[in-house]
Amino acid sequence: MKAVILVGGFGTRLRPLTVNTPKPMLPLVGTPFIEWMLTNLRDQGIDEAILCVQYLADRFRTALGDGSRLGMKVHIIEEPEPRGTAGAVKHVAHLLDDTTFVFNGDVMTDLDLQAMLAFHRAKQSQLTIALTPVEDPTAFGLVETTAEGRITRFLEKPKPEEVTTNMINAGTYIIEPHLFDDIPANQHYMFERGLFPSTLQKNHPMYGFASDAYWTDIGTPQTYLEVHQDIINGKVRFALPGSQIKHNLWVGSNVSIAADVAFHGTVVVCDGAQIAAGCVITGPTIIGAHTRIGAGSAITASVIWQENHLGPDMVVSHSVIGHRNHIAAGVKIHNSTIISDDTVIAGDNAFDRGVRIWPGTQVAAQSISFS
Ligand code: GTP
Repeated sequence: MKAVILVGGFGTRLRPLTVNTPKPMLPLVGTPFIEWMLTNLRDQGIDEAILCVQYLADRFRTALGDGSRLGMKVHIIEEPEPRGTAGAVKHVAHLLDDTTFVFNGDVMTDLDLQAMLAFHRAKQSQLTIALTPVEDPTAFGLVETTAEGRITRFLEKPKPEEVTTNMINAGTYIIEPHLFDDIPANQHYMFERGLFPSTLQKNHPMYGFASDAYWTDIGTPQTYLEVHQDIINGKVRFALPGSQIKHNLWVGSNVSIAADVAFHGTVVVCDGAQIAAGCVITGPTIIGAHTRIGAGSAITASVIWQENHLGPDMVVSHSVIGHRNHIAAGVKIHNSTIISDDTVIAGDNAFDRGVRIWPGTQVAAQSISFS
């Protein structure tokens, strides 16, 4: 069975992490998210995936090739310009001739795809949307259904008094191929504002498949950090890399950890990382491959990517550090700060309150502080 995966968005809410790395390629515990997604699809019976790429398209080609490394067939098809979610599917419709799954490429879910397909067939649905419950529906597109699941109404970001359901569009669809004819060619067109309401208006059977499967959108700094917590706390099926050497510690190969380093909570230390004496690492934390952490540093609930040189005597908490940064002694990084890639940050700076440092930035000593 074939799946289309939408991975062409700019990932603006995650900038500057997405300046060099498209959102679906962001590492989750050291592995690009799209690889987790593809292997999850493969394990659930999907053997061919068509990736609709646009922004930083080459990153997908280099990382995934034809998919054989992952045991499936992958086509990477680039749009001439962003066509929107439905317009992107139209652009690859010549490759689709049967019932097709479509996935947003930024949603982590362990939804049972075969159960969704069985539901779609049993209802003789033309278009089925996976639904997930949320606590605050006012920030999302709501989908109202009958008790049998037939979709009756779409409601975009309602006011609190308009909320009639807590079920939202979870970004996974099953679509019958004749509906691709209803998507206008060569133009920007969205599912949410275009194909879904127009299919409903034409009275084609559309159903919502509600489930309480794990679901999160990795698209904001907050949710990107939370998804790591969920992986590490075992809320979603995910094989942590390396070997489990203590109940709370996973390490890759060629790792160097000084004898007195203290680990609290669950921590993953990826291949080739080095952690010097006196560090305290508190999970959930990921230390990326070939990252070096100087003596006496404290890292808490943070995600650190590859090839960084940090410290000594640094503090990093609840923050994300990208690739190849050089951050000097004594720097403090707190509270959803994002340091992207290739920065050079001299000593005695402090970052807080979600500050975002763009790739290549150089920060002189003692020039940034928060009181
Ligand atoms: P933000 O800019 O932060 O909103 O992120 P985004 O646009 O990357 O993601 P959004 O949640 O808006 O889109 C949902 C999914 O559709 C993501 O996986 C995007 O990569 C993808 N997507 C959005 N627009 C396009 C598009 O024009 N073409 C393609 N191929 N994919 C798209």
